[in-house]
This record gives sequence, structure tokens and C-alpha cells, in this order.
Amino acid sequence: MDKLLIAGGTPINGEIRISGAKNATLPMLAAALLASTPIEICNIPHLQDVTTTIELLGLMGAVFTVNDDLNIQIDTSTLTQFSAPYELVKTMRASILVLGPLLARYGKADVSLPGGCAIGSRPINLHIHGLQAMGADITIKNGYIHARTHGRLRGAKILMDQVSVTGTENLIMAATLANGVTIIENAACEPEVTDLIHLLNKMGAEITGVGTTTLTVEGVSTLNGTKYTVLPDRIETGTYLTAGALTGGKVKLKNTDPKILDAVLLKLEEAGAEIDTGVDWIYLDMKGKRPKAVDVCTAPYPAFPTDMQAQFTALNAVAEGSGAITETIFENRFMHVQELQRMGAEINLRGNTAVTKGVKNLTGAPVMATDLRASACLVLAGLAAQGTTIVDRIYHIDRGYECIEEKLQNLGANIKRVSNYTVSDIYSIYG
Ligand code: EPU
Repeated sequence: MDKLLIAGGTPINGEIRISGAKNATLPMLAAALLASTPIEICNIPHLQDVTTTIELLGLMGAVFTVNDDLNIQIDTSTLTQFSAPYELVKTMRASILVLGPLLARYGKADVSLPGGCAIGSRPINLHIHGLQAMGADITIKNGYIHARTHGRLRGAKILMDQVSVTGTENLIMAATLANGVTIIENAACEPEVTDLIHLLNKMGAEITGVGTTTLTVEGVSTLNGTKYTVLPDRIETGTYLTAGALTGGKVKLKNTDPKILDAVLLKLEEAGAEIDTGVDWIYLDMKGKRPKAVDVCTAPYPAFPTDMQAQFTALNAVAEGSGAITETIFENRFMHVQELQRMGAEINLRGNTAVTKGVKNLTGAPVMATDLRASACLVLAGLAAQGTTIVDRIYHIDRGYECIEEKLQNLGANIKRVSNYTVSDIYSIYG
């Protein structure tokens, strides 16, 4: 099993390009199921979750073509299967995103229930209730959701009890081909949801209220293929900026979008970073200083994203002073805390708040990644720590960070991917 070896303790310094957003790409690939003609998606990140989605759609009969620019064209006119098997859904919960499109276009979908997950119980009741409100007949049997509709789904008024990103995406996609108008209230307005809506509208959908919490979808009878470029990954951007901040370094990130990262940029400035931005770049300079601890509370967009919580816990671990990080989205998203403590972090976990008293130096240690963002947190902590950190189970990180070790090497970090490591590997990363 691959591991990352990191020799920490030096500021990172350099410039890299940000990849397309994972959490926008996955629903867009599912949206291809709605189109009568092929769609072409550009700026797709090379990630395990993308490969899993391609495998899932391929099993259904979709045909993929990769062109010279690495854009992916998807033709779903060849579909023969309308199911998402447990074997794939258990490796990637976002597989649930095929439920709405399959039901809307083909009138049937058999999708495995995702089950629990390392960061929380993550039910999908809101997806199911919304589809039922649109007239779907849904039963749960043998671990599968069996959804059917006779004729088209029908427009409905849906109030989401809780803000759900993939729940909103599933219901918008289902509503695009429904008969009549669907109004979704308390919808998620994360930039990835907005990006999906832009794609759907380009395919011929009629969705208004874009970027707000009330979306109106006027159903149309067909959607067509189009060409669309995925927006930059704001969480990848935030992760590398935080790497700069907690090592006292400087980074320039290109091909990104500062407008979708306000909450994170403000917290980094509060931590002492000097930040400059252009239309598609962000420059962060810590001027060699240690960061100041910050208080953070996660909440739906535009507030501070839960997907940046673990990285900020690492930041606070090496910061001056004390900071409280409160997680309000997922009930079990602090698995990184015990690993940070093994590196010398002083963190007191009380309920859903991690109170951290920053230490001057973390010390490298072997640590275990438990989920995607927790892995990123441990890599960041390893960059700041004195000595060698070995991050195990990095298959989690490959789900959401494209070429992380190469990008960090370009920023001057001493980091190496190994399957089995020896003492000489550890010495070799010191350069
Ligand atoms: N929830 C319900 N019922 C539902 C749906 C959600 O109770 O039917 C609850 C969840 O349990 C959670 C809250 O609502 O407490 C929000 O969950 P949401 O549905 O928004 O999460 P998600 O759509 O499953 C997406 C991202 C996550 C990100 C969250 C929150 C994708 C593929 N995943 O998940 O990304 O953390 O929104 O912003 O878009 C990641 O990239 O590391 C990641 C976990």
C-alpha cells in the first residue's frame, strides 16, 4: 500500500496550477445521463473518484472518448443498464448522483444504498423524499434503492430540511426532465452546484435562481450534449494555501478562482497571511512568520467549508495562541485529531469543537489517514513538523488531490511516494 514520506520543517515556496473541481466533475459526469447527444467536459481532474464514476457509467453502457486535450466526451445513447452496484457505491458515495438522472431520463434506477462513512452517518433521505415528491415510486430492498416512474416525473415544491449538496444536485437533475415546474427551497448554493446548473442550462435546461437557496426548474422534454469546462477546485486551492501558511512559506496558485474562496481567504489573513489575488490566481506570503491561531465554524456555502476544517486544525496545531474549530456539518469529522496528537499537537476535543493550543514544533511520526481531507491535514502537518512523517493509507488522498506529491515537490517540499520504504528512502527525501 502506498505511503507518503515527508521530511518537514522547511517553508514551501513556488507556484503550481490548480486542477478542476472533483465535486463539480462527479455530478457533471452523472448529468451526461440526461443528454440525448454526447457531452464533452474539459478540465477534468485525474482522480480516483473520477475513474470510479467513469467505471460506473461504463458498466451501464456509456461510451467515453478522451481527446488530445484530455477532455472527456461521454455518449450515453448506448445505455443498457440502469443500476449502480454496491461494489462501486461502497467505494464512492457520490455514485448516488446517478439516481436522479436515471429516473428522469429512463424511468428506472436501482442504486445501492451507500451506508455509513468515516466522517458521519450521511443518510440520503432528502434525495429520496424529493424524488417521491416528484412522483417516483421508491422501495428499499436488499440494500438497494429501487426507483421507478411511469411516464415523466412531475414538477413539485420541495423544501430541503437540511442543506445537502448532492441532494440538491440529484433533485435539480431529476427536475430538468420533469413535467412542470419544480421549486427547491433551502437548496445548497456551493459553487459546484452552481457550476452543474450552468452546464445543465447549456444543455437546454431551464433553471433560475442560480447561486441562491431557491431554485426554480422548468422541466423540458430533452437535453442535448454540449462542451463545458469544470471550475477550479476551491478545496485543493485552500489546501495548498494552508500549506503555505503553516510552513511560513509563500505560494502562487494559478488556474484558480479567488471569488469562490472568500471564507478561507479571510481566515488565512486573520492567521497573518498576506494575500494578493488576480482573476485566476492567488498569491499567499507568510513572510516567514508563524501563523496565529483562528476560530472557525463550518457551515454551508458561503460560510467556512467543512472540507477545509481538517487542514485548519493542522494550521492551529502549529500556530501562536489558541483556536477553536467547530464542525457543524458532519458528526464524526475529527479523526485526524488523534493522529495530530501523535505528532505532538495539543488539541482538546469537546463534542464538535476542537480547541487547539498551538505548539512551536510538531514532530514527525507515522500516521494513518482515515478520509480524504484528514489525509490532507496529515500531509500539511508533516510539512510543518520537524523530522519524518509517514502518512499511511493515502488511497484516500488520491480520491481528491491530483498528483499531490508532484505539486508539493514543485513547491519545494521534501515528499516522496513509496510502497515499501527503507531507511535510505527516509534519508533520500532530505535531498
Ligand atoms: N444529510 C441528511 N440527509 C440527506 C443528505 C444529507 O441528513 O439526505 C446531511 C448529512 O448527513 C450531512 C449534511 O446533511 O450532515 C450535509 O451533507 P451533504 O448532503 O451536503 O453532503 P454530500 O452531498 O454527501 C458533499 C461533498 C462533500 C462535502 C459535503 C458538504 C460531493 C461529492 N461531496 O457531500 O465532499 O463535504 O457536500 O459540503 O460533492 C470531500 O470532498 O471530501 C467531501 C466529503
